[in-house]
Amino acid sequence: MTEELAFRGFEYAAAPESRAIVRLDDAYGLFVGGGWREPAETYTTISPASEEPLAHVGQASAEDVGAAVGAAREAFEGEWSALRPAERAKYLFRIARLLQERAREFAVLESLNGGKPIKESRDVDLPLAAAHFFYYAGWADKLEYAFANRRPRPIGVAGQIIPWNFPLLMLAWKLAPALAAGNTVVLKPAETTPLTALLFCDVLRQAELPAGVVNIVTGDGRTGAALVEHPGVDKIAFTGSTEVGKAIQRELAGTGKGLTLELGGKAANIVFDDAPLDQAVEGIVNGIYFNQGHVCCAGSRLLVQESIQQPLIEKLKRRLTTLRVGDPLDKNTDVGAINSAAQLQRIEELVAAGQQEGAEIYQPPCRLPEQGYWFAPTVFTNVAQSHRIAQEEIFGPVLSVLTFRTPEEAVEKANNTAYGLSAGVWTEKGSRILWTAQRLRAGVVWANTFNRFDPTSPFGGYKESGFGREGGLHGLEPYLRFDEDATEWGG
Ligand code: NAI
Ligand code: MG
Repeated sequence: MTEELAFRGFEYAAAPESRAIVRLDDAYGLFVGGGWREPAETYTTISPASEEPLAHVGQASAEDVGAAVGAAREAFEGEWSALRPAERAKYLFRIARLLQERAREFAVLESLNGGKPIKESRDVDLPLAAAHFFYYAGWADKLEYAFANRRPRPIGVAGQIIPWNFPLLMLAWKLAPALAAGNTVVLKPAETTPLTALLFCDVLRQAELPAGVVNIVTGDGRTGAALVEHPGVDKIAFTGSTEVGKAIQRELAGTGKGLTLELGGKAANIVFDDAPLDQAVEGIVNGIYFNQGHVCCAGSRLLVQESIQQPLIEKLKRRLTTLRVGDPLDKNTDVGAINSAAQLQRIEELVAAGQQEGAEIYQPPCRLPEQGYWFAPTVFTNVAQSHRIAQEEIFGPVLSVLTFRTPEEAVEKANNTAYGLSAGVWTEKGSRILWTAQRLRAGVVWANTFNRFDPTSPFGGYKESGFGREGGLHGLEPYLRFDEDATEWGG
């Protein structure tokens, strides 16, 4: 018996979730004005775990985007903005309930098209997507109370561009507050993961949402750019790379269109010497290997106090040997497929740079499937702050470990990044949690946990991680304009 098998003892038997619950069409159009519009151009979307073709989807042109914006404008000026707020809420509650009812179908499709483990789609993506619709449904008829004396009004047509790491959840984050506030929407899913958004159009049909309130145009960055440039759009909400976020901000400068950007991150996960080590190891693993590390708020930099580095890294490496990498539809899988060939290439390039710059690499023994896009869970130790793997977002299952001696040094190193989306602190002392959290330039700070999400809690970043908040009351503001200056007694 090899050392690996001796350590593992019993292997898990395969426990595949059935694909039969999902019925895919051969080809999908663009969802415009409540119906399907034939795209001039199409491409094939695949499963990243097997490279198997799944369906043909549209590559929307500028003309298609124009039709979608037109439909959204018509719906906004017609039925939707005149609707009583409690009626708007009714549609959002319906969507939330339908997502719950069809959760298994959506979870399977999410894992199939995006490569994430079924246990994550099932236990994280779907429940949270439904929770966002429930949460914002509750606000729809309470906006006057939420923003007292500020006279909230919808802004009009929102253009929303989302990434591939949480396809349906990002759709929910974007649509729920926009609709609750009384806007209509044109949404563009990421090119590698369009299928749950297209299935969601069937939920909209079941919910009897008026035509044109939500329009979904698939396609790559060209479609996104056409949406950003369209003069009929009042606000853009973007989640994705810092590079594209900056380009959008330049494009929109001076246009008067609203903008929120949720971009990348390079979060520090700080472990102090009094932290419970086994719990911290679970938090570190969750922080960087959850969703293959395709997480903007991933804990990709582990900052460990020097005195506990050795035992912590030993425990972490041992834990990595128990992670099961493979078929996303297997209920036992911990780490699924990398979302695309392009993303795999980016990860490989940065990992090679880490080795070249002198960091020490560790990967547990694991057999990766032959077909599809895969990367083993990876830890780099001996990382210097100047290394690319300590500075750049890898967006893969790759952890960079740095050390510190004092709390001041931990904070300084944690903040030594162009990003500022999230951070983690592990310590037994409440006072140390507060001291550290106050000094971290990060939108979200988790204490003795990581990657926890809740629709009531605002989420967003500082610096190159973007601006604007999603979730909570804060998440409604970008979708409202306030007539607070235009009171009866003067302009
Ligand atoms: P990306 O920023 O190119 O893609 C995100 C979305 O933007 C997609 O829907 C894409 O079609 C759209 N898009 C691309 N170019 C556009 C343009 N010029 N105008 C309007 N929309 C455009 O991200 P990509 O290339 O998939 O990933 C590159 C890196 O970005 C990743 O390695 C990761 O570091 C980071 N990223 C961060 C995300 C986050 O959640 N903050 C999500 C996805 C990527
Ligand atoms: Mg890109």
